[in-house]
Amino acid sequence: MERQTEETIEAELQGLREQYRDLGIFGLGRIIAQRAAAETEMESIYLLIDDEGWTIAGNLDAWPEAEDLVTNRVRFAIEPSGSLGPRRFLGRTVELDDARLLVARDVEDKLRTQALLVNAIGLGSGLMLIFGVIGGFVMSRWMLSRIETINRTTEQIMEGDLGRRITVEGSGDEFDELASNLNAMLERIERLMAGMREVTDNIAHDLRTPLSRLRSRLEVALMNEIDPATARRLLEETVADAEGLIATFNALLSIARAEAGEQRASWEQVDLGLLVQDIQELYEPLAEEREIELCAIADPEVVVMGNRQMLAQALVNLADNAIKYSPEGGRVTLQATHLATAGRPAPLLRVADTGPGIPPELRTKALERFVRLDPDRSTPGNGLGLSLVNAVAQLHNATLELADNQPGLEVSLVFAAPPAARTADA
Ligand SMILES: Nc1ncnc2c1ncn2[C@@H]1O[C@H](COP(=O)(O)OP(=O)(O)OP(=O)(O)O)[C@@H](O)[C@H]1O
Ligand SMILES: [Mg+2]
Repeated sequence: MERQTEETIEAELQGLREQYRDLGIFGLGRIIAQRAAAETEMESIYLLIDDEGWTIAGNLDAWPEAEDLVTNRVRFAIEPSGSLGPRRFLGRTVELDDARLLVARDVEDKLRTQALLVNAIGLGSGLMLIFGVIGGFVMSRWMLSRIETINRTTEQIMEGDLGRRITVEGSGDEFDELASNLNAMLERIERLMAGMREVTDNIAHDLRTPLSRLRSRLEVALMNEIDPATARRLLEETVADAEGLIATFNALLSIARAEAGEQRASWEQVDLGLLVQDIQELYEPLAEEREIELCAIADPEVVVMGNRQMLAQALVNLADNAIKYSPEGGRVTLQATHLATAGRPAPLLRVADTGPGIPPELRTKALERFVRLDPDRSTPGNGLGLSLVNAVAQLHNATLELADNQPGLEVSLVFAAPPAARTADA
């Protein structure tokens, strides 16, 4: 604003200098007198004095006591008549050959505005700083206290209080999200640990019986007055027991491996139709022995990406169950086909029998490790077959469904429909 004032003064002086050049000191004096007369409000000041200091023309009585800013630039305060107080002016002086000229403008209002602005900015910044500091302090205290809560809880959990959970305040902010995520993680860890404990208990329980049987048999064999034929029989039975134990361990290892998902690197395209035919051939003799009709329905090109050995093992377990639990004269069907879904057809593996089936409320339970539903345990087995099928299904992102075959059990494995490109390849 000051620069603007100076520029207008400068422009006016430019004009006055030209007048002086053309008209001389008296001409200039006349113009100054006119302009001064027009200034009723005293917004501009004009003053022309001669070498002696006598006023030639202007609306100021005497040259003011001015503070020289830079060359020819002055600032001064006077109290014009009718004004309520001193007003500040900004002006320029020009030295002419035989006179001095002053042109000044009232900048009081502008200076007041400036002072007001400076004060406002200063006060505003100060308040902002104070509130900023207070706000920052409160915020950080609040955040630290919430982190502290989480810290305290995790410490308690580390000290062994595994059932403890971080309190969720219900504000739905990031801290709440963090707390509920941590809680969900703890929940899952606890569940996994419970599962592990259960499995360990089951293993211990299920292996103790065959192991103690094995030991007592060997103790009998060690007795002196035993004939070689009996000793041989005992040893053969022991070998059978040991084989059973090894089979159990192998089944547990396969389940663990399927659950860990480590096989994914060695995945290949597996034709479920061929798999069904192979297993049907493999189990034909056993089925015939039990007078069960074992048939295979294999559609062409039912292909999934997967681990061939694991899929075969799953199908073997299902066929084994179907034959084992079906009464003589029953009928077992192994089927590989496509399930018509909304999108592309999904590969489907189905094993159905005409046995007693599994009641709906026990179907989930039957999938657990070491669970055998047959209370008198008249059939051999240790309850790992369906667990492996379940693990293989999860490994292959397939859904395992146990349904009623009316009569009998119908187990189906529905795989995800393959992406379009792969179908074309196949
Ligand atoms: N096809 C079926 N019909 C009737 N019941 C079945 C059938 N398949 C499984 N079950 C029931 O589910 C239980 C669990 O089956 P699973 O295959 O896991 O174990 P298992 O056959 O008893 O032993 P394993 O398979 O380890 O030799 C079985 O004990 C049986 O009671
Ligand atoms: Mg089984």
